[in-house]
Amino acid sequence: MSDIVKKILISEEEISKRVRELGDQITKDYQGRELLLIGILKGAAFFLSDLSRTIKIPITIDFMSVQSYGSKSESTGEVRIIKDLDFSVQGKNVLIVEDIIDSGRTLAYLKRNLLNRGAESVRISAFLDKPDRREVDVHVDYIGLKIPNEFIVGYGLDFNEMGRNLPYIAALKDEIYR
Ligand code: IMP
Ligand code: MG
Repeated sequence: MSDIVKKILISEEEISKRVRELGDQITKDYQGRELLLIGILKGAAFFLSDLSRTIKIPITIDFMSVQSYGSKSESTGEVRIIKDLDFSVQGKNVLIVEDIIDSGRTLAYLKRNLLNRGAESVRISAFLDKPDRREVDVHVDYIGLKIPNEFIVGYGLDFNEMGRNLPYIAALKDEIYR
C-alpha cells in the first residue's frame, strides 16, 4: 500500500467491475449513434481510458482542462478553461467523463458551456459522487459509486498532484492532509 494512504475504500477489482457495467449501459443507450467522450483533465484520464475500452460503439475522444477559482475546498463557482477542445461539438452527442462530482459546479458549468456551443446532446458520467457536498443541482446520467464526504486519492484523483496513479481509491493519511 502507498505510504500516503490511510485506508483503501474501493479496490481495483471493484473499480473495473463497475466501469464495465457503465460501459455496457452506455453501449446500449447510444446504440446506432456516434458518441464523443470529453475527458476532464487530469483526473478523468484514467477513468476515460478504461471506460472507453468497454464501450462497443464508434466513439471519438477529446479533452478539456478546467480550473475553479478559489481554494480547493471553497470553490467560488467560477470556472476557467485551461485547455480547450481540439474539435467542434456542433451537432455531436457528447458524454462528459469526469472523475468525481463534488459541489457540482464544474459539471454544471461544462454542461452549459457545451450546450451553448451547439452540441446535439450532453450527458455526464462521473465515476465517483459525493452527494453530501452538492451545492448546484446537476443531473449525472452515469454514476460509478457514491462515497461519503472524505478526501480521497487514486484512480486519477490527487492531493497536490500526488496519488493519481494508485490503482485503487483510498483515504489519505491524516498527517498528509494537514
Ligand atoms: P466540483 O466542481 O466541486 O464538483 O469539483 C469537482 C473536482 O474537485 C474534481 O474534478 C476533483 O478534481 C476535485 N475533487 C473533489 N473531491 C475530491 C477528492 O476527494 N479528492 C481529490 N479531488 C477531489
Ligand atoms: Mg478534476
